[in-house]
Amino acid sequence: MWRRRGSLMERMKEGVGKVVGLGGVNKEFPILDEHPIAKEKAQGIMKYYEKVSEWMKEKKGSGKEPNINVNKVKEFKIFRWNPDKPLKPFLQSYHVDLTSCGPMVLDVLQMIKAEKDSTLAFRRSCREGICGSCSMNIDGDNTVACLKPIEANTSKATMITPLPHMFVIKDLVVDLTSFYQQYKSVEPWLKTRKKPENGREYFQSPKDRKKLDGLYECILCACCSTACPAYWWNGEEFLGPAALLHAYRWIQDSRDDFEKERLQALTEDEKKLYRCRTIKNCTATCPKSLDPARAINAMRIRHQLGQL
Ligand code: SF4
Ligand code: SF4
Ligand code: FES
Repeated sequence: MWRRRGSLMERMKEGVGKVVGLGGVNKEFPILDEHPIAKEKAQGIMKYYEKVSEWMKEKKGSGKEPNINVNKVKEFKIFRWNPDKPLKPFLQSYHVDLTSCGPMVLDVLQMIKAEKDSTLAFRRSCREGICGSCSMNIDGDNTVACLKPIEANTSKATMITPLPHMFVIKDLVVDLTSFYQQYKSVEPWLKTRKKPENGREYFQSPKDRKKLDGLYECILCACCSTACPAYWWNGEEFLGPAALLHAYRWIQDSRDDFEKERLQALTEDEKKLYRCRTIKNCTATCPKSLDPARAINAMRIRHQLGQL
């Protein structure tokens, strides 16, 4: 019969170590060496598990049924607004026993929705940082809830609000129509002038493929654009860091033949690209450790060099 090796804590340490290099065992995923946010979050999960497994041992030792102890219960203050109710937006408090919940903020939201309040609205799908649906503001930072470890300090409430400066549809769900239109406007697909040589596919050397690292991983969560002051103030004209990162992803692609036209489209109205003030909130908040500010800068340099 197949058996799991070691305790939950040992397996957690081994798994996290493999992925982000804690304890020097990152050989299997060296690419994540450049993912500081993943490392920070993995450390957050370890802290959380250490605390929660301490509590679990206490429970076991007491031989009693798990009882809700005030020290293990954390308050979550969640933004609520329902367009069908005549109430102003408000923060609603929920108290969650951390020993009966998963380690991420999305686990808390799922638990609240399943067991405490089915009216709470939020988006989610993959629960592993791939789909970009569960983006929201947690304790002041834009991030995806499924990659955000719960802070095990129960003396402090965690505040969860929608992505800032966006129209709210309900609770934590914001209207992303304009964000997606801006993404569509950069024509995020391969554009070529000739058919592939073998009639089937366009080849790319490993060196050219490498140039797309740090760009293709974007999950369109909108954390960066909604953290950007230039986007708050000029959201209609400025394309925002997410759409611009994607524009650069196609400009950088060795198989694409429309670099000049793409750059021209971004700069015919200077507000689309040049409204960026290099404040770098976008880069600081990206849950995938991407650097949209760098992509924006690279396009400005290319544009200006092309003007010389
Ligand atoms: S660097 Fe540019 S795009 Fe990024 S947050 Fe600042 S102004 Fe916005
Ligand atoms: S660049 Fe980062 S923060 Fe911005 S949409 Fe992509 S994954 Fe999200
Ligand atoms: S649920 Fe997909 S990124 Fe969080």
